[in-house]
Amino acid sequence: MKCKTCGEKAAINMRQHKLALCKEHYLSWIPAQAQRFIAKYKMFSPEDKILVAISGGKDSLALWDILIKLGYQADGLYIGLGIDGGFGYSDKSLHFCQRFADRRGLKMIVVDVAETYGSSIPELNSKTPRGKDKPCAVCGTSKRNLMNRVAREGNYDVLATGHNLDDEAAVLFGNTLNWLDNYLLRQGPVLEAEHSGLVRKVKPLFRFYEREMAAYALLKGIDYIYDECPHSEGAKTIYYKEILNQLESNRPGTKLIFYLNFLKAKERGVFAEPEIRKEEMKACESCGQPTMAPHKCAFCRLVENT
Ligand code: AMP
Ligand code: FES
Ligand code: ZN
Ligand code: ZN
Repeated sequence: MKCKTCGEKAAINMRQHKLALCKEHYLSWIPAQAQRFIAKYKMFSPEDKILVAISGGKDSLALWDILIKLGYQADGLYIGLGIDGGFGYSDKSLHFCQRFADRRGLKMIVVDVAETYGSSIPELNSKTPRGKDKPCAVCGTSKRNLMNRVAREGNYDVLATGHNLDDEAAVLFGNTLNWLDNYLLRQGPVLEAEHSGLVRKVKPLFRFYEREMAAYALLKGIDYIYDECPHSEGAKTIYYKEILNQLESNRPGTKLIFYLNFLKAKERGVFAEPEIRKEEMKACESCGQPTMAPHKCAFCRLVENT
């Protein structure tokens, strides 16, 4: 297989795009594509201050790398979840983030859940019924709350996460299987701030396959944590990813078509208007962040009930 641009030996073949590229041309193709998508979906402009949520995994570190290469002003945010204790999953993740930032002289903000709120994610999980039942949901609520808070306090214009196409297609698959129309309405590469207390959220990697991001990180020499979060074992999204991978191997491009046609359907107004209106949101009595709940937001109820 030869590089389509220069004819040298290809480093990657992307069947879904009918495109093979050598290392050099792949490493310039990915940021160029990312820039196309950032512009096409009106994610942000060079004047915007971007906060990149980094987990230490390949996607979010590759995203930070790409944004810096494209000349954007992007700082990193790492949230210490306290998973697996001393030099376990969370400490290792922090180590990869810190090393990435230090080597490039980038600014990274670190927020530790246990230091800030008194309980780590595993502690919150063991102390609450919801945590015992759905540890990743508790973690997700906490991460969303903290990401929004740090982005607002730091006057960032936009929060970027490293979700890739495989992540997004798997979530879409679950939302469609269960026909969760409220979730379908809110799913997309750009989530506008529905309230003055919320920051815009974007997913600049949503059109890249997981495999493409792994190849980018590897060829670019980005060191990242290979381990998955120990709580994610058996999670439904992993199962959905496996099913989608089977479909993809029989018909390259399936995931991309599934997701892009969903976005087109949304644009055509296939889904009903949201029931939740921004005016209905109130400030949480505890942390002040916008919430639909009558008194305190889901995160504060979680922390305070423990
Ligand atoms: P996940 O929910 O683990 O699939 O991660 C999705 C995205 O959320 C990642 O690409 C990151 O942008 C962000 N993220 C996940 N974990 C963390 C963390 N501990 N700190 C900051 N951002 C995170
Ligand atoms: Fe949150 Fe695994 S990263 S439960
Ligand atoms: Zn080439
Ligand atoms: Zn709150």
